[in-house]
Amino acid sequence: MRRVFAHLLVLLSAVLLVAGGLTTAPPAQAATAIETKYAELGGSGGNLGAPTSAEVCGLRGGGCYRNYQRGAIVWSPATGAHPSWGAIRETWRSYGFETGGLGYPTTGEICGLRNAGCYQSFQGGAIVWSPATGARISVGGIRTAWAASGFENGALGYPTTNEVCGLRGGGCYQNYQGGAIIWSPATGARISIGGIRAAWAATGYENGALGYPVSNESCSGGTCSQAYQRGRISWTAAGGARVFRDIDVAASVVVVVNKRRQLNPARHVPGPLVDVGGPLLRSDAAQQFSRLLADARAGGIAMVPVSGYRSYDTQASLYASYVDLYGQTAADLISARPGFSEHQTGLAIDIGNANGACGLQECFAGTPAGAWAAQNAWRYGFIVRYPQGQTPVTGYAYEPWHLRYVGPTVASEMRTHGLRTLEQYMSLPAAPSY
Ligand code: DAL
Ligand code: ZN
Repeated sequence: MRRVFAHLLVLLSAVLLVAGGLTTAPPAQAATAIETKYAELGGSGGNLGAPTSAEVCGLRGGGCYRNYQRGAIVWSPATGAHPSWGAIRETWRSYGFETGGLGYPTTGEICGLRNAGCYQSFQGGAIVWSPATGARISVGGIRTAWAASGFENGALGYPTTNEVCGLRGGGCYQNYQGGAIIWSPATGARISIGGIRAAWAATGYENGALGYPVSNESCSGGTCSQAYQRGRISWTAAGGARVFRDIDVAASVVVVVNKRRQLNPARHVPGPLVDVGGPLLRSDAAQQFSRLLADARAGGIAMVPVSGYRSYDTQASLYASYVDLYGQTAADLISARPGFSEHQTGLAIDIGNANGACGLQECFAGTPAGAWAAQNAWRYGFIVRYPQGQTPVTGYAYEPWHLRYVGPTVASEMRTHGLRTLEQYMSLPAAPSY
């Protein structure tokens, strides 16, 4: 459109000149920004070679481009005219050119980086290329974290992948020569490198017992450490990496207790216990359970608490009585040995119906209290800890009445991902027997 208009102007002035009786040649047409940039880059003798198209306009935001033998020049009112060629252009193409997340280029290719690398800036970030790593897209929060670490000159070096998304909880990562950056909406973008990264990998990355990193690595006095959602990793040159997982800590809300994981210490006694209508629960679990109970009752469900905190000694006599009644093999399917019961953490509660229907029996699942809990307990941070069909993992028969407080984040993630046991969620081995 702009060019047609320019042609008309030239034509008009030529007509006027002729009408005026002058015989001088018409003035040269004003060059477009793309033409000026092309000349600046050496014209047909430069990197781009000869034009292979006319200038094409009408792009997003009023932009234009012109193609050449070895690339293009792209112009928009907001960003001016910049060349686009080579591997960086191919990557920009794969990301949808100016219509993708990168938008228009805001610079040409800038070379001379470490190890002969180049980059080009775009409205939404950059594409970074090096001979060893190829051209990679760098955008968003992960780019900000990479920038803060010193770009390709920092510990991460060049990106070796684009951003890969779709991780648990909506997370993304990007790999670099020296490690990775991991981002999630809940935890932000964090750098993962070296021995601490190797130890985190061994736990199953964000899917394992530690979850996402919540800090970068920080070092002082020869010890480095990094914090995660559910623990931390520390590292020294002499001792290597040590992993501290909340699932191993008796007082943690995510402690995992099963036939292969006795409480430590075995006689652990939880912090403040609160009466939830007879049974006791640890205060954090009690607060959420009281809400659960009130909401169930408000919904017309006559739910009652049956058994909460049990001390080591209480569990010992309970287990012994089951052994007396049914023998050890049957007792082990329904009752934990002392030091191995979740009830000793103050985070587990058995529930029932006020009329006692199907009390501590599988058919509880079909009663109002059982059905309501299966549907709603996660909203309060509770899970049905021993689900149907999971005996090979949990070591226990189906217990639709046994709720375990793990906190709202873990409970809702387990639900979202269809992970039925805490062992699965934490990437722990099954615990069918002692
Ligand atoms: N009934 C469960 C497994 C316990 O005794 O802790
Ligand atoms: Zn129980």
